[in-house]
Amino acid sequence: MSVVNQESSNITNLSPKQDDMFTNIINGLTSNPKTIAAKYLYDESGSKLFERITDLEEYYQTRTEFDILNQSHASIAKLMEKGADLIELGSGSSTKTHVLLDETNLNSYIPIDISSTMLTKTVCQLEKDYPRLKIHGIVADYTQSFSLPELGGNKRVVFFPGSTIGNFEPFEAAMFLKQLSNTLNKGDGLLIGVDLKKDQDMLEKAYNDKQGITAAFNMNLLTRMNRELNTDFDVENFYHHAFYNAAKSRIEMHLVSKVNQTVHLGDRKIDFAESETIHTENSYKYSINSFQKIGSRCGFKPVEVFVDKNKWFSVHYLEVE
Ligand code: AVJ
Repeated sequence: MSVVNQESSNITNLSPKQDDMFTNIINGLTSNPKTIAAKYLYDESGSKLFERITDLEEYYQTRTEFDILNQSHASIAKLMEKGADLIELGSGSSTKTHVLLDETNLNSYIPIDISSTMLTKTVCQLEKDYPRLKIHGIVADYTQSFSLPELGGNKRVVFFPGSTIGNFEPFEAAMFLKQLSNTLNKGDGLLIGVDLKKDQDMLEKAYNDKQGITAAFNMNLLTRMNRELNTDFDVENFYHHAFYNAAKSRIEMHLVSKVNQTVHLGDRKIDFAESETIHTENSYKYSINSFQKIGSRCGFKPVEVFVDKNKWFSVHYLEVE
């Protein structure tokens, strides 16, 4: 990746590779079992629905992580030390970051997001809120390798909240962490939110909320494909199904076909048997120990872990060895 487009003095556009949604989805729907990568859940309405999920009573993750960050801000500030560069992956609106920006004596804040519109908006707002902080946004796909500009701080701390790492297969999570520890220097840090294993009923409720927002979020993928890929999914013929797969420590989200049916995508016919599913998301859950073990195998020494009193969610601080 190289710098090709300097949008403004404080945003660098690394031009993330255009994603080939058409090919990826054809491949997913013609494979057995049928799958679609979770990232396709997040078009504009999907992102809005996800925002609403984060406010749901049943969806404990977002507010629990927020509470942990708030309660532990002093210890986190100490770990980050004075003059660090804070790099956030998938920063979005940077809401969770305020507590870190408020409390820590940072050299700079580097939000990275794939959406240049979102990033520009966020950077403008942050510049108003934090006039003394160096802020430099980067438009990039953080799942691809990317280089960081010279930031001038005395160490770098990567912030990866929201348990987004749970969307990765464990081997992908390990590859991602390995790549990250290679990009960073010894002594640099990673502050990462990881959802914890817990009671199955509570997990399943978080992905089957009473208001049906999670169902709408999942079903929106069909509407999105109809709009953007010209498929002819009849949304009435599918339903949302989310359950905990205990053997794999993950929540699985599926769209289940209610009937035998055929859907058209370009010149392809995609057949669905009754009860056949499209697997749309995995959300892996870790124990504190199982996550630290992966970190250790990937160049990160566990330094501290912050949890809420119920041990529902964890925020790990790891250091590059
Ligand atoms: C944003 C990936 C952490 O897995 O809990 C929420 C996405 N999917 N409800 C999660 C999601 C259904 C969420 N992550």
